[in-house]
Amino acid sequence: MDTNTILASLNWRAAIKNFDPTKKLTAEQLNFVLQAANLAPSSYGFQPYRIVVVGNQAVKEKLKAAAYNQAQLTDADQILVLCSLKNTNEQTVAAYIKLISETRQISLEDLQGQKERMINTVKNQTPERVNQWAAQQAYLVLGFILAACATAEIDTCPMEGFNPAQVDELLNLADKNLTAKIICPLGFRAASDTYSKMKKVRLSQNELFINLN
Ligand SMILES: Cc1cc2nc3c(=O)[nH]c(=O)nc-3n(C[C@H](O)[C@H](O)[C@H](O)COP(=O)(O)O)c2cc1C
Repeated sequence: MDTNTILASLNWRAAIKNFDPTKKLTAEQLNFVLQAANLAPSSYGFQPYRIVVVGNQAVKEKLKAAAYNQAQLTDADQILVLCSLKNTNEQTVAAYIKLISETRQISLEDLQGQKERMINTVKNQTPERVNQWAAQQAYLVLGFILAACATAEIDTCPMEGFNPAQVDELLNLADKNLTAKIICPLGFRAASDTYSKMKKVRLSQNELFINLN
């Protein structure tokens, strides 16, 4: 993909308000998005988040009610709910170290230093700060999803406009030590979507970048 094509894709992307409810992702398209999400970088590689994938219309209706009735929740085909982990602790760090050990064939002994550094980082911060750190990682995943979808002409809409407590309850997230941070519907824009036809509002490069070169 050349750089002009990538920029054209990023320009094509818009936070879609009107999805076409008749248009569905193929299994391959959904799998592509999920793979891209899993490739996002995270602090220490720890991935302190999980993503709930909702395609069931009845659940989507309930999500919509918890999201100020925004139509994207029922019109888009699949809804990704990006959640941050609330239980980053010695056990969950140890599970991650085990995964590194198995994936890269490195002994747990050789990973002991890394494990201790991670545990110390967690212990030296308040639980609130650790949870905030986890949420920040989830936003990075959102960026990967939005960009990957744009290259594949899959429409999205990043959404913070929902009641997290209601979504947590609806999806039983507390049982999984999770809390909802961002929602990202996936689907295809309706021909009637006006927002995607409007010019993008962005700062000038002079204002955005403080160029010290
Ligand atoms: C973190 C975040 C939360 C957002 N929440 C909503 C939302 O709840 N509903 C909505 O329609 N758009 C939402 N948006 C979309 C923004 O309004 C949109 O990205 C912005 O106006 C720029 O337009 P563009 O994405 O079409 O280029 C959100 C965007 C971000 C990044």
